Amino acid sequence: MGVYKILWVSHVNRWHLVRSCRCPCVFFRQASSVNIRVTPTERQVFSVDVRYCMLEGVSGCSSPMAAPSIPSPLPCLGRHRAWQLDPSWAFLNHGSFGARPVAVSRVQDSHRRAFERHPIRVLDDELMQPMMESTLEAVAGFLGVDPAGLVFVPNVTDAIAAVLGSMSFKRGDEILSTTHAYGAVQRAMEATAKMHGAKAVFASVPCPVQSMEEVEACVLDAVTPRTRLAIIDQITSPTALRFDVDRLTRLLKRRGVDVLVDGAHAAGMLHRPVTTSAHWWTSNLHKWGLSPVGCGVLYTHPSRRGITRPTAISHMHFKGYQQAFGWQGTRDVTPWYTAPCAIDWVKAREGWAALRRYNTQLSRWTARTLCDAWGGSVAGPASMRKGVSMVTVELPRAAARWRVPNRLRDALADRFKVEVPIWNDGPRWWLRVSCQAYVRPKHVHRLVDAVDALLLGVIPQR
Ligand SMILES: Cc1ncc(COP(=O)(O)O)c(C=O)c1O
Repeated sequence: MGVYKILWVSHVNRWHLVRSCRCPCVFFRQASSVNIRVTPTERQVFSVDVRYCMLEGVSGCSSPMAAPSIPSPLPCLGRHRAWQLDPSWAFLNHGSFGARPVAVSRVQDSHRRAFERHPIRVLDDELMQPMMESTLEAVAGFLGVDPAGLVFVPNVTDAIAAVLGSMSFKRGDEILSTTHAYGAVQRAMEATAKMHGAKAVFASVPCPVQSMEEVEACVLDAVTPRTRLAIIDQITSPTALRFDVDRLTRLLKRRGVDVLVDGAHAAGMLHRPVTTSAHWWTSNLHKWGLSPVGCGVLYTHPSRRGITRPTAISHMHFKGYQQAFGWQGTRDVTPWYTAPCAIDWVKAREGWAALRRYNTQLSRWTARTLCDAWGGSVAGPASMRKGVSMVTVELPRAAARWRVPNRLRDALADRFKVEVPIWNDGPRWWLRVSCQAYVRPKHVHRLVDAVDALLLGVIPQR
């Protein structure tokens, strides 16, 4: 038995210490000058993760590992009042439906008012043409593509349905994606396959994944002579990983497979996000592009523009690709008309490059903080998270006691005002944190404390 002075202890060891030493004092983040009694058996616990624990008198202990630096908040883009979110919440789920600045919704309101003042002048198929063209041009400029290939859609779900509906599948054909694909996309593939007697195939990509090469091998292994279409994620939704879609597109095209890139999270998050070599690329501007909900885009390669048709057939159907998508019946066009204003709103402040830098830096810091706290893994290596503003981290094993992920999600929301999506893969539970200008390290700390409290019954110290 020896008495050691704790100089610093990470969350990982706080857990071990509490379990084995029943020493509540170590719940302080900085536990300096706290003396604890440690038996030789208990010292084993520390030696496992000695990197994360500095005990005076224990050989081999050096200072804690340098953590990634915390980014400085963006004074204009990060101002909470610029956003409409409830400031009392730690809102860590920008990835699902985005969030909009106040200024963007005001512009959308003005478009709505203009429509209500004179519906015909705004929505008439011919009169809306110039407005549609200039809006598409502005968005194409932001994305760095030829506007001739770009059309607006309400969302990525709609764009994927349009592509699936534009292809003629035969019995026995295969539509390929991976197990990291968004659930609704998987359902769309299965429904389309069922309708044609075809097959939806999901290449099994593990989680955590080790490398892009591993993903590539999984995808290519699943290709057969019957594979007609592959739907490849650019940034995966549950695991927040960036796939090398340029390379995958090249490899799949070489095997005669059409490629649709699901870039739902890419517009706004990545610089020059469009995979122009793919047959189709789609994204939402209402996530990281900060546009009103209902603002998606589809970019079609010149070789497929002739066959690509929207989900709804209307007046302009035989007038070409862009015309057919441009008019699909009476619908709310204000999300599209507002998209350029959202782009300019960021440009007029710290700008897109600074916003992306803040978000990715915060996401790196978050990954490290949560791994330190819970001793779990990140869903994939840093090389697959470059430029990604979200991170998926494993929860402590005790999470599985909640049985249903949404129950834990709801408890975090109801009791701690933390909004974060949670899912499980067998006994391993994961959560995804989205980093956006309005997110601060204190929100991530609140998440850590809330999880500690719910899984260990620890009263938060902060
Ligand atoms: C990867 C991915 N694909 C598709 C979608 C569907 O987007 P929407 O619901 O806007 O159609 C999402 C939504 O989160 C997504 O993350």
